[in-house]
Amino acid sequence: MTDKDLVELAFTMLDKAYMPYSHFPVGAALEGEDGSIHTGCNVENAAYGSCICAERTALVKAVSEGYRSFKRIAVVGNSADYCWPCGSCRQMLYEFAPDLEVLVANKDHDFVKYTLRQLLPHGFGPSSLD
Ligand code: THU
Repeated sequence: MTDKDLVELAFTMLDKAYMPYSHFPVGAALEGEDGSIHTGCNVENAAYGSCICAERTALVKAVSEGYRSFKRIAVVGNSADYCWPCGSCRQMLYEFAPDLEVLVANKDHDFVKYTLRQLLPHGFGPSSLD
């Protein structure tokens, strides 16, 4: 699967987003080291603090099914700016995949590519507890 394929798969998740409060849909597609694909969207809640982002939806779906190593994620939205992953999502992803490639798209389906280490320098991970 090309980077573009993963981005377009993430775009298909915008239709699934539950975002009655922000009206800001986000889609994600996470690729396991084994090539498995795990999708996610944001799921909001009337108790706003209980909202979950698209990336974390994809991640917890994957981990709950036994996947623990990942190589790429695409994060997309309908925004003019690239749909940057929030700090909480960067942190959650860092736990399992500090070397993750992160593809971030805007509403025009243009995307940029970073590593998670670039987006979360000096991250706190499992080895930080040693
Ligand atoms: N959102 C995500 O799904 N991922 C991010 O990394 C940033 C924000 C969602 C959360 C909320 O449902 C909406 O976008 C507006 O913040």
